[in-house]
Amino acid sequence: MSNSGSRASLTNDFERFKRALPRDFPAHVRDTYRINLAARYLGEPIPHPIGKGSGQLSLNSGQLETDAEAGLAFAVLKTVIAQDPAGDQSMAAWAIHETKMKVERRGGGWTVTWKGRGWDRSFDDYLALARAAWDFTRAGLLLTVPSVKYHLPRLTEPFRDDEYAFTTHALAQACGQTPLLLEKDFSPTLAGDPLADEKQQILRWLREVPAKIKAHANVRLAMKLMNARFDDDFQLEMVKAVASADALVVFNRLFDPQQGVAYGGPELSDRNLRVLARLTPGTSPGIPELSGTGNVSSGRMIVEYALRGCSSVQLHTFFQLPLEEYPATEGSRTQRALHALMFDPRDGLIAVMLEREAAGALERRGGELHFLDLLPGAKR
Ligand SMILES: Cc1cc2nc3c(=O)[nH]c(=O)nc-3n(C[C@H](O)[C@H](O)[C@H](O)COP(=O)(O)O)c2cc1C
Repeated sequence: MSNSGSRASLTNDFERFKRALPRDFPAHVRDTYRINLAARYLGEPIPHPIGKGSGQLSLNSGQLETDAEAGLAFAVLKTVIAQDPAGDQSMAAWAIHETKMKVERRGGGWTVTWKGRGWDRSFDDYLALARAAWDFTRAGLLLTVPSVKYHLPRLTEPFRDDEYAFTTHALAQACGQTPLLLEKDFSPTLAGDPLADEKQQILRWLREVPAKIKAHANVRLAMKLMNARFDDDFQLEMVKAVASADALVVFNRLFDPQQGVAYGGPELSDRNLRVLARLTPGTSPGIPELSGTGNVSSGRMIVEYALRGCSSVQLHTFFQLPLEEYPATEGSRTQRALHALMFDPRDGLIAVMLEREAAGALERRGGELHFLDLLPGAKR
């Protein structure tokens, strides 16, 4: 089909999928548009680049079931606070309960204001969630990945290895998967904590944490980096300090010290894209796979992250909008969000890939446009 023929089909698909998005929409996109959406998260092939970031939307198996039905590519489970065999948690201040979330406009986009932090139920409950999540993964329905916040010491203190050992072993057993896929969270609220006042302290965590985790199990590790309260140069220094991680999730929300809350919206994606643009492949050797997070609210924004090296994206806020903000009229929020991100005739992923083809910025290979060809340095 010609580029203009594809655009006509897109308008048609956008309208009819408002009522129901086919679960296997990547196959439909491949057949109809000759667009291959295949992407990658933590070294795993995924059918398209859109996943769910860790948070309040991956707390129970009901949410995972809805996501699997919608055809989401992957879901990162809520962050659990590590503990030692006696149940002590050095980061216990992060295991606080808070139910109120407010979805609000900020800077011309959306943000979720919420004062809670990590998983606030028992560690055994988390292991049960990780086991249930693994069932979805094993069945090929949804790639799931647990997330942990482990002990982060002051510069003069040692790491609490017993927390690293106990938590990592327990998760490796619960998931029964080798290697264990795992995210390590450095949250935005940490950026607002006196613990993160010292650059040297943060750099030491980034250098040493991967080995601390990997010492205890066969782990494929994504490090989810916070937006520290320093400048862009330091943000780059952080990326380069991470040793031996298999992926980086770039970058968690900004911290507003006046209100004492983390936030997102356009200010977050502006900062993330600005920093990522300085990590040109080739000039930044040794940078692992990247997964983008922050204000992904259109296919166009997915492309912006991909052009800066991200082979997947992880969303939270866009899965939480008031229902009337989605163009779809039926289906779960996950389905409605995927529908808009993929099929919007102006700013959806398909439209933007076709637009780049028409502009000569993306070429077909074997008759297909490939999402992963958007990444700099992709093999043509
Ligand atoms: C209410 C809420 C809770 C979150 N909880 C976590 C968490 O426990 N662990 C984590 O790594 N990220 C957490 N995040 C960050 C999201 O996973 C995501 O990276 C971030 O919000 C940026 O994406 P967005 O702009 O699409 O929301 C949370 C975000 C929100 C809004």
